[in-house]
Amino acid sequence: MIASAKVNLALHVTGRRADGYHLLDTLVAFSSDGDLLEAEDGSEDDFFVSGHFAAHVPIGETNLVTRARDLLREKFGEAARAPVHLHLEKNLPVASGIGGGSADAAAALRLLVRHWQIDIDEATLARLGLSLGADVPMCLASKPLVARGIGEALEELPHFPALPLVLVNPNIPLSTPEVFSRLERRENPPLSPLGAFTDTVSAAHWLKEARNDLEKPACQIVPQIEEARDALKEANALFARMSGSGATCFGVFSTRPGADQAAALLQERHPDWFVLATETRSPVPTQAENAHVQ
Ligand code: C5P
Repeated sequence: MIASAKVNLALHVTGRRADGYHLLDTLVAFSSDGDLLEAEDGSEDDFFVSGHFAAHVPIGETNLVTRARDLLREKFGEAARAPVHLHLEKNLPVASGIGGGSADAAAALRLLVRHWQIDIDEATLARLGLSLGADVPMCLASKPLVARGIGEALEELPHFPALPLVLVNPNIPLSTPEVFSRLERRENPPLSPLGAFTDTVSAAHWLKEARNDLEKPACQIVPQIEEARDALKEANALFARMSGSGATCFGVFSTRPGADQAAALLQERHPDWFVLATETRSPVPTQAENAHVQ
């Protein structure tokens, strides 16, 4: 099962709760690329991590995949008792503002619910996800959406177009709580009303006027974020911005070949950066899918 990268196309911080969590108004989409998670029957539990970023994945109590497994066991007892081998292929950088652990946790919940044939409704699954992290419910949805509250109040965007993207990370991890703690203003204006986007260009035009309020504090900690964002703009992105609490930046391109070309150029210029050409998944069927249905 793919654990798609989460991209905060816009992220406005609108307040703070009494418990310290921040209130957000964020437009999120999910890429067609991500980590991969597999589950198989085994004689005992096992968790194996491979892939380019495997060495950065924490093993033990903080790992969100094994926490998701243990949470289902706690909640469903006998139905979730059978030992399971879990294999995570970690293709995305960790602590990088694109979901990472939350996407892996959401994939683990979905995969194990299927593997153990657990009978659970979507609302209960989302509540379980939220107990693992604020971004887990949106990663369970894995569709274009606006998330409010601390990220758990979801409004799906059934007509949001697919966007060709390039993701760039200067390979420096960032601590989410540290970025939030450096915010100068916590009561910022929400997203402006969403238009009826028909294509990449109209969506990009609206998104360009939005913000990521975490970008300024994140750049104070890791100044290379500005370099990554500017490099995307120089490579002809329609616009470029940081995702989540950073340090990954994304550029939106008008076509997929344009994104592929820009990614090749950026990787050549910055061989030590993580660079990925991808696209956000759209809930709107493509022409090919429509033709298949007819
Ligand atoms: O929920 P999660 O464990 O992913 O959040 C990590 C940290 O990010 C929290 O402990 C909190 O400091 C910060 N955070 C926040 N407001 C949010 C989401 C996360 O302040 N809406």
